[in-house]
Amino acid sequence: MERTLIILKPDTLHRNLVGRILTRFEDKGLRITALRMQWSSREQVERHYEVHRGKPFYDGLVEFMTAGPVILAVLEGPQAITVVRNLLGATDGRKAAPGTIRGDFGLDQRMNLVHASDGPETAKTEIELFFRPDEIVTYERATDRWVARPDGK
Ligand code: CMP
Repeated sequence: MERTLIILKPDTLHRNLVGRILTRFEDKGLRITALRMQWSSREQVERHYEVHRGKPFYDGLVEFMTAGPVILAVLEGPQAITVVRNLLGATDGRKAAPGTIRGDFGLDQRMNLVHASDGPETAKTEIELFFRPDEIVTYERATDRWVARPDGK
């Protein structure tokens, strides 16, 4: 079982897509183990996107991510990091395959609706940046045994 961080970006909220996008993750079978809305500070966004500092799109990205509220969530499931990134599709909505979240809802590279961790190390760091351990809820859904088998084989 793996955990990943997602951020529904300000464009998702301004476009009233929160419910529809969260539903895509639920429909897949992923479990929401933490969920919070916030208006991120510049400092928090800069820390989160530290690896992109200095890139041509960095300043615009920080401005965008502080231009409205976001929804933060931790999703859990087998190979959740890869599964979630596949659900999102390519970074640029114009290039993302139809059927993916960005392919279905996006037409922009910066305003690409959702951020998701890109690997196990990043997932750990990002979850710790945005959630205290006691905000992550461990539980089992009644449907879990019909979603994925524990051994995954
Ligand atoms: P995300 O997956 O959150 O990681 C970095 C973000 O920077 C990315 O999604 C986009 O929102 C943004 N981004 C990446 N590349 C570009 C680009 N070439 N131009 C503008 N924004 C970009």
